[in-house]
Amino acid sequence: MAASVVTEYGPREQPALAAIGMVLVAERHARRGVGRRLMRHVVAAMGTTPLTLHATPFGQPLYEELGFKVIGRAEMLRGHFVPTGAQQVATRAATAEDLPALLRLDEEVFGADRTHVVTRLPAFADQLRVAEEDGRIIGYAAAWPNMDTHVVGPLIARDTATAKALLASLAAHTDRPLRTDIDVRHEELLRWAKEHGLASIAFNAVMTYGITELPGDWNRRFAPVTVAAG
Ligand SMILES: CC(C)(COP(=O)(O)OP(=O)(O)OC[C@H]1O[C@@H](n2cnc3c(N)ncnc32)[C@H](O)[C@@H]1OP(=O)(O)O)[C@@H](O)C(=O)NCCC(=O)NCCS
Repeated sequence: MAASVVTEYGPREQPALAAIGMVLVAERHARRGVGRRLMRHVVAAMGTTPLTLHATPFGQPLYEELGFKVIGRAEMLRGHFVPTGAQQVATRAATAEDLPALLRLDEEVFGADRTHVVTRLPAFADQLRVAEEDGRIIGYAAAWPNMDTHVVGPLIARDTATAKALLASLAAHTDRPLRTDIDVRHEELLRWAKEHGLASIAFNAVMTYGITELPGDWNRRFAPVTVAAG
């Protein structure tokens, strides 16, 4: 009747960060303190590990009550991507040989080791693509199926032009609408995505507990692996 998923990143003995997702309480049990009890349990069980989550307006008051702080916002987009012209950056499907380079780039940008998630992307996602320049990987992105959409994430790219090329190339290989959560600081990518058929459906708060900022490089981190639940 209630669920949440906690994903730890970094060293197993002392994780650098844990992401909380899919906080859900069955409708028929709502508003009876189940969500509060579940979240208190998660916070206590995680000890000193810094926490982060994307909160919908429904979840935000509860997380604030538990001590989480809003440190940023993400805009949820959904829709059929309408291509216009060619992209400037070359992309291709990832291969097994790309994995070491992909893991290095991911850790640098995310700020913690998430090998256990990235190595499972080929099984979990329908598409995993890389952007390349002079034989070097400068970005990567995955699209995985969720209900009737393909969720785009993670989306990691050296710059906005690279992020655009990856998003357009994922769209070119699916008939489903895309869904993604883009950090609002990436204004140019958001504007461009909306010009290409994606519509804003929600704003979610990026919240943390135990740290005031997320590790890594937000400039190159465009979308997380998962989107907020609802
Ligand atoms: C958000 C959610 C997890 C809350 O679970 P819950 O068991 O109903 O929550 P609780 O009864 O423990 O309430 C905790 C507090 O959250 C807030 N809250 C919960 N539901 C709310 C609602 N529908 N409207 C406004 N505030 C709400 C209130 O501040 C509440 O405290 P109060 O009842 O003392 O006023 C649940 O409604 C849910 O699964 N929603 C859909 C998915 C979602 O939005 N997840 C959160 C995003 S990560």
